[in-house]
Amino acid sequence: MNNSDFSLQPRIPSIMVTDEEIDFRQYLSATELSVIEHEVSIMETREAAGIEALKIVQKYRGWISDDSLIAIAQCLQMSSAQLEGVATFYNLIYRQKVGHYVIHLCDSISCHLTGYDEILKVIQTYLGIGYGQTTPDGEFTLLSNVCLGSCDKSPAMMINGQHYHSLTNESVVSILNGLSKNAGDIV
Ligand code: FES
Repeated sequence: MNNSDFSLQPRIPSIMVTDEEIDFRQYLSATELSVIEHEVSIMETREAAGIEALKIVQKYRGWISDDSLIAIAQCLQMSSAQLEGVATFYNLIYRQKVGHYVIHLCDSISCHLTGYDEILKVIQTYLGIGYGQTTPDGEFTLLSNVCLGSCDKSPAMMINGQHYHSLTNESVVSILNGLSKNAGDIV
């Protein structure tokens, strides 16, 4: 394991800082606060905006650190433990630092029956990483995912929210080649 590894198992809350050490008004940017408050305004309660608030901060920072989690929880007037529960439940919230591109490769049954093993091998060979790892240049993280809803066009994967299906060894290499050329172009 290197520093970029992280477990795919459900996380046990690991918050090392106390709520008192963070002032969410200082920690979150004006833009983040404004967008979060907009989400809050269309929810019945502040804490109902939890998942959207996590997504907003992740959009700007790439992942949700313990400090970010505490700041968001304060902003929503809920406990950080409650918000950690929300973050852990939703697999597109990253509680450890990830690469610019996060590959979610579907490992559910239809994909398994249509070439998942080969596709995984191609990705791992191309990037030189396994599940839960990030390339040393910080560009790619590889994660497994349950069914992505493209079973009729399996095997499938999702990268930064974009779905790719009917994957072949060649198409995967072509996709990764294309992204590698753009490396560093996205936030
Ligand atoms: S099983 Fe892979 S997309 Fe459904």
